Amino acid sequence: MEGRKLRRSLVLSISISFFLLLTWLHLPSSPENFIKKPGPTHHESDVPHHPLDPLTVHEFNKVRAILATHPLFESSSTYSLNAIALEEPDKELVLKWKRGDPLLPRKASVTAMVKGKSHILLVDLNTSEVSYNELGSTSGYPILTIEETARILEVPFKNVEFNSTIAQRGINMGDVKCVPLSSGWYNMPIENKRRVIKVQCFSMKDSVNFYMKPIEGLTVLIDIDREEVLHIFDNGRGIPVAKGIDTDYRYSVQKLRGELHLFNPISMEQPKGPSFIVEDGHLVKWANWEFHLKADARAGIIISQAKVRDPDTSEMRSVMYKGFTSELFVPYMDPTDAWYFKTYMDAGEYGFGLQAMPLDPLNDCPRNAYYMDAVFAAADATPYLRPNIICVFETYAGDIAWRHAETPFNNFKVTEVRPKVNLVVRMAASVGNYDYIVDWEFQTDGLIRSKVGLSGMLMVKGTIYDHMNQVPSEEYLYGPLLSENLIGVIHDHYIIYYLDLDIDGTDNSFTKVNIKKHETSPGESPRKSYLKAIRNVAKTEKDAQIRLSLYDPSEFHMTNPSKKTKIGNPVGYKVVPSGTAASLLDPEDPPQKRAAFTNNQIWVTPYNKSEQWAGGLFTYQSKGDDTLQVWSNRDRAIEKKDIVVWYTLGFHHIPCQEDYPIMPTVSSSFDLKPVNFFERNPILRLPPNFKHDLPLCTSHVLA
Ligand SMILES: *[C@@H]1O[C@H](CO)[C@@H](O)[C@H](O)[C@H]1NC(C)=O
Ligand SMILES: *[C@@H]1O[C@H](CO)[C@@H](O)[C@H](O)[C@H]1NC(C)=O
Ligand SMILES: *[C@@H]1O[C@H](CO)[C@@H](O)[C@H](O)[C@H]1NC(C)=O
Repeated sequence: MEGRKLRRSLVLSISISFFLLLTWLHLPSSPENFIKKPGPTHHESDVPHHPLDPLTVHEFNKVRAILATHPLFESSSTYSLNAIALEEPDKELVLKWKRGDPLLPRKASVTAMVKGKSHILLVDLNTSEVSYNELGSTSGYPILTIEETARILEVPFKNVEFNSTIAQRGINMGDVKCVPLSSGWYNMPIENKRRVIKVQCFSMKDSVNFYMKPIEGLTVLIDIDREEVLHIFDNGRGIPVAKGIDTDYRYSVQKLRGELHLFNPISMEQPKGPSFIVEDGHLVKWANWEFHLKADARAGIIISQAKVRDPDTSEMRSVMYKGFTSELFVPYMDPTDAWYFKTYMDAGEYGFGLQAMPLDPLNDCPRNAYYMDAVFAAADATPYLRPNIICVFETYAGDIAWRHAETPFNNFKVTEVRPKVNLVVRMAASVGNYDYIVDWEFQTDGLIRSKVGLSGMLMVKGTIYDHMNQVPSEEYLYGPLLSENLIGVIHDHYIIYYLDLDIDGTDNSFTKVNIKKHETSPGESPRKSYLKAIRNVAKTEKDAQIRLSLYDPSEFHMTNPSKKTKIGNPVGYKVVPSGTAASLLDPEDPPQKRAAFTNNQIWVTPYNKSEQWAGGLFTYQSKGDDTLQVWSNRDRAIEKKDIVVWYTLGFHHIPCQEDYPIMPTVSSSFDLKPVNFFERNPILRLPPNFKHDLPLCTSHVLA
């Protein structure tokens, strides 16, 4: 069993952040800071309480024991378990389940690589049986394991040609840091029938920020399973490694240059403590909201069974059965040798949750935040802990929930204002160079805002130029010059959300409310034109393949046609896009086919437990035969059915100098907003802030 051999090194390797992983070769650092092994911690005694609770330490160990005696693994010396997660019970069973009922049978879904083939297994933890074992029927491979990645990064250094080109470039071997880059799929003979990865390297000389010091043009193509170099592309010898002056972003280094004191220390006061609780480890209750929350190795944050309280009936009403970031797509816009393949699908290739590191209290999340741990599994199913991967906190940024002040004529004076307090669930995934801050923000007026912030380091390209006046034509740079010898290559980011909204029940319809110009007839009105809302219920999936346009505006309503307000409107929620971007790549471009879920901003599919990963279950080197586009093209009926909405949030990124050497966060979001869901403003009875509830925190500065 491969895992057994690896066990000792696992203690080190599994723990590591992607970042540390990259620095692994020559900088074995102390992983204890990043991982607590499931030893005598409170997680050792975790038991599931809810059917959706993630697998516990004990359950992972049981999966490992069951699989160890399974013929598939007994007869194979090398295998890896690339993903192990709770197989959630059928939705109808979960919906019927109530606290206090016996727990539904616990199952684990496992994807494994055995002798170069992808397998899907279902392990029943109650009966200790493997209820099925199938070969993957679509193209592509499971998520890379952290162990595989660590081994791959050692491969180039066993190659004479690699060592000699590094030496010829005048780079000290001890300064070389390499990163594992998923190679995409381009229908080339060398990538058919084997898993491949590309490794590129950087220099750590004089800066911890090695991303700003690429060894340009050097790409090592590696066979993942054989751990051997297939080819070395070595084209950039004339391109110097950027000097990396003042790129070290650590406080310990920057403070030596003099701190930028821009504001006094700041925090939010909660004199009576936070207003939320987390029951049984996963059930979050705050204000008028309640939902189940867990971390997932692939998706990151999973929100389940989100319900909001009706202020009139006190009933908890269903809004969303399940919501998570299903896939990402990050294509770089440079067709040359060392860059064309950079078209990452981070969730399915690397695991979005696997790349999320422990959050930093007071900086990642404010005081009074609650931190949730994740239990993930190594490639042999040994569980390990990723502490503080998610935080939950209330925010008050001085915003206003609603207000009105009346002009005081007739001695009539009114000023009514209510403070806006939200609950945020946050994770920050560091996928190599980039950091994705994923927020789910719950608001008391029933709105859910999904926000993504981008920070971290750009993927930059080395160049011979150190000033714009040397550049003959910007066209061939593939992005702006950011600093001496560095180009910020233009790229996009897409994050697609799976949103299984269940508005007051599972049977919902999706309605496009088209806003159309209507012209008046001659003599009808002094006005020539006005706007009308035209409702179109989507009958089938293709009716709900939506591309946004400012000049063809619509609202997108998810309604429950059988549940109406007192005055007869169907209750609903709408998907409200905000700043976003659409992919402009050719639909037949291989990366666009693989990430075809970016062909539309909104999709609606009938609920199907097997259709959750928009880029396919097996994303690594996939050919695009198992994407949301393929499913949606079946054009199934979606009216008055259990349906799922998908939303693609996009960013075009033309880098600029301020993004160097680390990017100030750029954010975008979309909302799920009640539309005729409540009878009236649901926070009408919310009290204002009163002075006596907010004791002054005295400052020694004043006085
Ligand atoms: C399955 O196992 C869980 C936890 O081990 C237990 O709580 C539950 O009652 C079992 N369910 C059945 C149907 O045996
Ligand atoms: C390449 O360099 C590394 C680091 O100096 C060394 O450990 C390794 O043995 C070298 N590989 C070959 C094939 O010479
Ligand atoms: C559910 O999804 C799977 C995977 O796409 C597909 O094979 C199956 O036909 C789908 N079932 C229905 C009823 O659409």
